[in-house]
Amino acid sequence: MKKICVVGTGYVGLVTGTCFADMGNHVTCLDVDPVRIDHLNQGKMPIYEPGLEQTVNQNVRAGRLFFTTDYAAALAEAEFAFIAVGTPSGNDGEADLQYVRAAAEAIADIVDHPIIVINKSTVPVGTGDWVADVIQRRRNGKPLEFSVVSNPEFLREGSAVSDFMSPDRVVLGSLEREAAEKVAELYRPLRCTVMITDLRTAEMIKYASNAFLATRISFINEIANMCEELGADVREVALGMGYDKRIGHAFLDAGLGWGGSCFPKDVKALEHMAVLHGTQPQLLQAVMEINRNQRRRAVMKLRKALGNLNETTIGVLGLSFKPNTDDIREAAAIEIIHLLQNEGAHVRAYDPQAMENASKVMHQTVLCENPYEVAEGADALILVTEWNEFKQLDFTHLKEIMKRPVILDGRNLWDPETIRGFGFTYMGIGRGNGGLKDFE
Ligand code: UDX
Repeated sequence: MKKICVVGTGYVGLVTGTCFADMGNHVTCLDVDPVRIDHLNQGKMPIYEPGLEQTVNQNVRAGRLFFTTDYAAALAEAEFAFIAVGTPSGNDGEADLQYVRAAAEAIADIVDHPIIVINKSTVPVGTGDWVADVIQRRRNGKPLEFSVVSNPEFLREGSAVSDFMSPDRVVLGSLEREAAEKVAELYRPLRCTVMITDLRTAEMIKYASNAFLATRISFINEIANMCEELGADVREVALGMGYDKRIGHAFLDAGLGWGGSCFPKDVKALEHMAVLHGTQPQLLQAVMEINRNQRRRAVMKLRKALGNLNETTIGVLGLSFKPNTDDIREAAAIEIIHLLQNEGAHVRAYDPQAMENASKVMHQTVLCENPYEVAEGADALILVTEWNEFKQLDFTHLKEIMKRPVILDGRNLWDPETIRGFGFTYMGIGRGNGGLKDFE
């Protein structure tokens, strides 16, 4: 049993702390937001993550998991301090490290026992060295035995708990191998691959992994757009490609592109690092441009199908950046709705989980209670997030209540011929002619 402090109770910090507690450790999660800590102490989760609430409450009851705003209490006797705070995009995509600095300085101010500081947040290459320097300077000559280890997270929102408990690999980087090996011990119960390398390499593995996943998605979206012009079906193309073991089937779902709190931030940060250090990230720039274009292309399809968008009513199904999360950060829906409203369209929308988050930022959009209310009087319906509950809608009823039978399936959730069989004009992403030719 180890004593662990986790700084930051977002989906990375809270999941990390909870899972380490679930493995038998004594974990104190710290946040500077008293409201968030208060809610956690009442058993109320700040985020929607399958399995999280139950695991948190079990470990709080077992006396292994604690929440506080008090750094001294959180760090008392802690052998490990995980920094899991936000690293939002700053100017021109550079990662903003102010919260990492604040955490490192607080550790330097308070701790007077040997400690291993672990960067869990996604931080630019070289940040590990910088954190060591911040601590050193803050100590201002007062001795402290500490090491810095990079331990990037590979958690997906909507499956963060299961991703933590059964990782494909744990990556650790440090200038002191012994420190990395002590962190590796924390993960031993997971019986997974643990890779130990140096600080900068571990930090780069995180960025390169996310940038590659985003590249796969932009690649298949570019192929999808070609399929629409050439009459091929991108889902079949991706299936045929994926049988090649060197390619695989994952992350080849064409759609409206990638959003969320990671891919956009991490790809931009990697591009910024590249430019700052004199290399030309042409591929990353193209990957981002293709992603932006995927939203614009969806609006173009609706414009072609309806003649023009001014004074039309468009129903939007799904607001979260992907299913099984309430997170709308950089979600395709947000951008598409802004583009539609800029052309004078009236937008109605519904999401199974993200309505509370959406209500904070979407003031011109009619937020509905269910998919049918969204479709009421709509000139077109666009599926933006492929939630399970949208799979088996009552299309006969939808056709009755919509003003015009036009559907844009932004995630290829439905079968084109089935939908056309209900009398709809169906457009998908890369599905043969994708419906575009119907309107030329
Ligand atoms: C991602 C990485 O997967 C994870 O390893 C990292 O730690 C954090 O960033 P996340 O952003 O939570 O996780 O979601 P992910 O499931 O990767 O999806 C990211 C975006 O890509 C979503 O908008 C999703 O809709 C989109 N996507 C994903 C596609 O458009 N096509 C695909 O085939 C897969």
